[in-house]
Amino acid sequence: MSNIAILLDGNALAKKVRISVKKQAAQLATPPGLAVIQVGDNPASQVYVANKRKDCVKCGIQSHAYHLEASAGEQKLLDLIQWLNEQAYIHGILVQMPLPEGYDPKAVVHAISPDKDVDAFHTLTAGKFYLNNEVTFSPCTPAGVMAVLDEYEIDPQGKHAVVVGHSNLVGKPMCQMLLNRNATVTNCHVYTKDLAFHTRQADILICAVGKVNLITADMVKQGAVVIDVGINRNGESICGDVDFGEVEKIASHISPVPGGVGPMTRAMLMLNTLHSAQRMGG
Ligand SMILES: NC(=O)c1ccc[n+]([C@@H]2O[C@H](COP(=O)([O-])OP(=O)(O)OC[C@H]3O[C@@H](n4cnc5c(N)ncnc54)[C@H](O)[C@@H]3O)[C@@H](O)[C@H]2O)c1
Repeated sequence: MSNIAILLDGNALAKKVRISVKKQAAQLATPPGLAVIQVGDNPASQVYVANKRKDCVKCGIQSHAYHLEASAGEQKLLDLIQWLNEQAYIHGILVQMPLPEGYDPKAVVHAISPDKDVDAFHTLTAGKFYLNNEVTFSPCTPAGVMAVLDEYEIDPQGKHAVVVGHSNLVGKPMCQMLLNRNATVTNCHVYTKDLAFHTRQADILICAVGKVNLITADMVKQGAVVIDVGINRNGESICGDVDFGEVEKIASHISPVPGGVGPMTRAMLMLNTLHSAQRMGG
């Protein structure tokens, strides 16, 4: 008899998070403020920035959008960040990546005050996060995955979690969050030999690579929880890294793309901005 996995509905959970953020934001003396800076005219970035703006509206967060021409130069961007660091009504600052050529993303990220680093990219933010010590901001995508696991009462403790992808943005902080919740963690990546051997061991399989159909049904253990972080674009449509149609017959739970981790990443950004405003006594 074929089984169909429970769908991990990121859209529904993200909506719940936004409602909760809105309620808490309304209790603050000043609304949380998020500054989003875009440099240049990357079309994908334009969509991301517009979506963040919409999320802010839904959450009762003031969105402050800044656009610089690609030719503006790094110093102008650094000056803008410095000015935003000093504004009391701004609780979160993010610079939409990737930056155009000629900008040093590390210098830009480190110009953002760690108190307003809602993307959690700054070294100080990451240090606190990795030590699990006075965590200020959690990286949005892995935090979104953890929120999904919690919502569906999937406890990582004692489970074998296999994370495919080892970027600073997703894979590594994902592993750390699972470790903090007492999972046994294996991290696979592009140099891993026999990826399928590892993925088949997973009670919880999380894929963050960016390769269509990287994870096929034969790579998944019966009853595993499968979370697809990947985003692959084909014209207007997007899909993840997992062969959803086949894997949903094997997994106990599966997240779709779109409608899985993506909306949760955005919801966690709103949550980070709220927490920052609460800390600053907004
Ligand atoms: N859903 C979301 O909100 C969200 C957020 C961030 C990133 N993403 C998506 O997640 C994916 C990963 O993002 P990233 O920023 O970590 O990308 P990245 O390019 O920085 O890292 C990709 C990772 O995949 C690994 N990899 C590449 N080929 C592999 C292979 N054949 N087998 C095993 N591992 C392989 C690499 O070692 C690397 O660690 C992308 O598709 C990205 O668009 C989604």
